[in-house]
Amino acid sequence: MIKLSNGHSFEFMAASGALAFDGRGWLWDQPLRWAGLLRPGLFTIVTKSLTLKPRRGNLRWWNPFRCVRLLPEGAVNAVGLTNPGVDWWVKKVYPRVARSGWNFAVSIAGETLQEYVEIAIRLKGCEGLKALEINASCPNSPGELQWNTQSVIDTAKALKKQSPWPLILKLSCAHNYLTIARKLEGVVEAININSVPWPVAFPRQPSPLRKFGGGAVSGKAAQAFTWKMVRELAANTFIPVIGASVWDYEDIEKLFDLGAGAVAFGSVFLRYPWRPTLYVKRFQKNRPRAEPRRLFHDRPSRHGPSF
Ligand SMILES: Cc1cc2nc3c(=O)[nH]c(=O)nc-3n(C[C@H](O)[C@H](O)[C@H](O)COP(=O)(O)O)c2cc1C
Repeated sequence: MIKLSNGHSFEFMAASGALAFDGRGWLWDQPLRWAGLLRPGLFTIVTKSLTLKPRRGNLRWWNPFRCVRLLPEGAVNAVGLTNPGVDWWVKKVYPRVARSGWNFAVSIAGETLQEYVEIAIRLKGCEGLKALEINASCPNSPGELQWNTQSVIDTAKALKKQSPWPLILKLSCAHNYLTIARKLEGVVEAININSVPWPVAFPRQPSPLRKFGGGAVSGKAAQAFTWKMVRELAANTFIPVIGASVWDYEDIEKLFDLGAGAVAFGSVFLRYPWRPTLYVKRFQKNRPRAEPRRLFHDRPSRHGPSF
């Protein structure tokens, strides 16, 4: 369980991009939501990343598989931050989000420090958000800033001054993540983990999305990298880590054992959109309950201990 400074606690998160911009999920998720097999209220929902200006990216709504491919046990995507921009979100989506009663964090991505700060300023009227997630790791973004250790640190510190919400920082295994985390203790309240650039995950194999630069790998196929990050971050910093790449139910326990404070579901929503809901319900049902209160044997008996 991760507890943020505003009192919001969470154990399960829907990662950015998993449930679209408003937590209801994508078109193909709707029948599952109506059937109760996808329950957004079970997760702290991170919106798909928002940029200052609308961004075309590579996603075309009529052909999503142009830049997203399913792998046998994961996915590779090169969406490239397609989104209609922060002002659209504040005007058109936030009112629905505010009415939903669900827990939301907003993910933001900029190309300069000033852009990140400007996005945060534009979100300021959105009361009730639980956190601001800094996407410093879009593998499909050309932004130089995101990959520069000092720039990531400076951006988080600048946002800390502007953001009324707790900050979550999203990094990838291509970052100098231990250095960044150590420098941001007391600034960011959790670290989340992004997908793995294709050439890192599969250095000898051409990507099916090579025309978009290769894209980034997620799901079980990314576990070797994302779980290493969880282990190292948990052992070396005080900032709680959100574990990624859950594919099977057992992965949740494994991530908590590795030191994750919470778990985010990402591309498993794409491949098996019903799994996160089933897994969370199962986890909550199986969770060892607190010892029942012993009503009659709490006080030591005058006749010696009772067993
Ligand atoms: C189709 C798709 C779109 C995504 N869009 C975003 C995004 O807008 N912002 C972001 O920070 N991460 C985005 N991600 C990354 C996920 O949030 C998640 O961090 C990543 O997939 C690793 O987790 P996983 O292995 O559990 O899937 C996206 C992933 C996929 C597959």
